[in-house]
Amino acid sequence: MPRMPRIPRWVVVPSLAAVLLAAAIITASARAPQGAPQATATAETATQKANREALGKAPRGPWAYSGASGYTNYVGGGVGRSPVQPVAFPHPVHVNTLKMNCVYCHSSAFKSPDPGLPSVSTCMGCHTLVAGDRPEIKKLAEYAAKQQPVPWVRIHKVPEYVHFPHMRHVNAGVTCQSCHGQVNNMPQVFQYASLNMGWCVSCHVNGYSPADGMRAAGFTPDSAALAAPRRKATYDCSNCHY
Ligand code: HEC
Ligand code: HEC
Ligand code: HEC
Ligand code: HEC
Ligand code: HEC
Repeated sequence: MPRMPRIPRWVVVPSLAAVLLAAAIITASARAPQGAPQATATAETATQKANREALGKAPRGPWAYSGASGYTNYVGGGVGRSPVQPVAFPHPVHVNTLKMNCVYCHSSAFKSPDPGLPSVSTCMGCHTLVAGDRPEIKKLAEYAAKQQPVPWVRIHKVPEYVHFPHMRHVNAGVTCQSCHGQVNNMPQVFQYASLNMGWCVSCHVNGYSPADGMRAAGFTPDSAALAAPRRKATYDCSNCHY
């Protein structure tokens, strides 16, 4: 029998039915009610509202100063790197408003070194019905019609000689937000942590605090998290370097 990992609540995949229901409610409420005056072009959509509320809420990492030696700095990135994406995908709407979980879209986070990005068909599961008249959704539909993946610009990257297994961290209960910041409050994703060796090693040596991880994710730590010891990890060079 394969062991079923105990899935923490901030990553549980909601049932598609619940998500579709939420999507239907949001779309319906975003439309002008019958008989009411036509919504003007300036009326705020659910997306604009979620983004406005999220703006500036995501704290920058305390390690911003240590980003100078980061690999991505060398290739033109580092802390704060936030490329404009081919489709302006808003995390706040999908995560905060629609209550979708990270692994609904980044579905291999528990199983593989790479958490993966969603396919266009995952998006079109909703967007054939939802917000099809918006410019960004029209772009999305064009990729879908051409059967092409959206050419998302990669933000986080460690050098080739570094081995970073997502599943080891996620299965150990390290919250996504400990490393990525509150992506759910970022209208446009930015790199939150330096990803340099000092950053990795300081967590491995000092140990991961489940309570801090919950706080990073915006939750109030529960008694189990407060009582849990720090989880230390290896400082063996060959674990991180090929
Ligand atoms: C927890 C993971 C981890 C461990 C353990 C680790 N490293 Fe690293 N190391 C990294 C990362 C990540 C980078 C890339 C740093 C960057 O992008 O600036 C790196 C970079 C390096 C570099 C290149 C530095 C540069 O400026 O180009 C060397 C050399 C190195 N590590 C040696 C070691 C040695 C020796 C050990 C064992 C004592 C070790 N590493 C242990 C994660 C680790
Ligand atoms: C509806 C699908 C969806 C959900 C839900 C979702 N994401 Fe994403 N995520 C994407 C897409 C599409 C991209 C690529 C475009 C972008 O960067 O905005 C992305 C990009 C990212 C990136 C940057 C990837 C890179 O290139 O380095 C991170 C980090 C990330 N997501 C984390 C999260 C976290 C954490 C959550 C849960 C709080 C989450 N995502 C929920 C679809 C989703
Ligand atoms: C579970 C259903 C669902 C899925 C799956 C989904 N979305 Fe959405 N999306 C919505 C809803 C609902 C809205 C809010 C529409 C509104 O503002 O009224 C939205 C809003 C958006 C917007 C903002 C539209 C605008 O300009 O107002 C974009 C862009 C978008 N989604 C892209 C994507 C992409 C890309 C994917 C796949 C990675 C995706 N969505 C997956 C339901 C979904
Ligand atoms: C311990 C820190 C850490 C945790 C926890 C973590 N990530 Fe990452 N993430 C990284 C690093 C480092 C990279 C760059 C990896 C590489 O270059 O191979 C990355 C890259 C990514 C990417 C880009 C992958 C690509 O192929 O474009 C996505 C998406 C992502 N993470 C999502 C998530 C999600 C969702 C979670 C939670 C389920 C999560 N991460 C948890 C550190 C972390
Ligand atoms: C926020 C804390 C944290 C950060 C940051 C972090 N790690 Fe980890 N890492 C952990 C924990 C906790 C484990 C132990 C998982 C377990 O016990 O199974 C782990 C495990 C690992 C493992 C598996 C070790 C083994 O024994 O096989 C590797 C490899 C690794 N990390 C690499 C990295 C690299 C590379 C980085 C930086 C790019 C990094 N980690 C950043 C907390 C962290």
